[in-house]
Amino acid sequence: MSQLERSPRTRTYLMCPPEHFTVEYTINPWMDTTVAVDAAQALKQWESLRTTLVDLGHVVHVLDARPGLPDMVYSANGAFSVDGTVYGARFRYPQRADEAVAHQAFYDTAGAWRFVAPQHVNEGEGDFAYLPAAYGGIVLAGYGFRTDPAAHAEAQEVLGRPVISLRLVDPAFYHLDTALAALDDRHVTYYPEAFSEASQRVLAQLFPDAVLADRADAEAFGLNLVSDGRHVVLNTDAVDMGHKVRAAGYHPVHVDLSELKRGGGSVKCAVAELRPAQR
Ligand code: ARG
Repeated sequence: MSQLERSPRTRTYLMCPPEHFTVEYTINPWMDTTVAVDAAQALKQWESLRTTLVDLGHVVHVLDARPGLPDMVYSANGAFSVDGTVYGARFRYPQRADEAVAHQAFYDTAGAWRFVAPQHVNEGEGDFAYLPAAYGGIVLAGYGFRTDPAAHAEAQEVLGRPVISLRLVDPAFYHLDTALAALDDRHVTYYPEAFSEASQRVLAQLFPDAVLADRADAEAFGLNLVSDGRHVVLNTDAVDMGHKVRAAGYHPVHVDLSELKRGGGSVKCAVAELRPAQR
């Protein structure tokens, strides 16, 4: 990737505080129910992520946490919006099903959104990423662990954007956002081995200038990042990933989210991007 002056674009995000965060069931390999979560620490770390985004000039909406939904802090999974249309989530596991209802209620009252309820299982931005300036605007979509590939076709019909299906093959990287991230409107970073060989070829064809991550970067949740096009917010463990994005011209901003990692997520999982209609 060439060394450019990377420019930020102001974003609108949705986050949900980890007020009822626990690890009380195991639906991904990172979750260990035998070690108690430090709830106060989780909340403190979440708050520092929120203020980091606000201090970078972004708007952060907060969704109220609901008791009985310990994974609700991972707000990225609640829906996927492109150009004012919201494709709702439908969770793979019953423990998280009601989160979709809370997210739908947010969009129903938050303004000019066209909300479309899904027929197929999909976990929102966990498995969908949008690149507005790549090929005129494309969606990258993961499957293999959570989102049903039928939801990729459904998302394409709902959003009217090409959806590229990518097969995830490593259970440690069960959502697309653990293995790939948008660095700006047209550039991505990803860990190739998290994808099938065919999907690796698809990514190499579409993004020959991608920043490639290795297994250690992915295990440090270094790909579970949020970027505004210049500032790349990523977790403190992901030191090498910070160097890689800096070498590509971005500015890494590290935030400690050690408690949220216990549920199998980090920065990106905790931040949904809201993409209202362009006018
Ligand atoms: N415990 C949650 C789950 O397994 C973590 C979700 C992480 N979110 C994400 N966007 N990757 O569903």
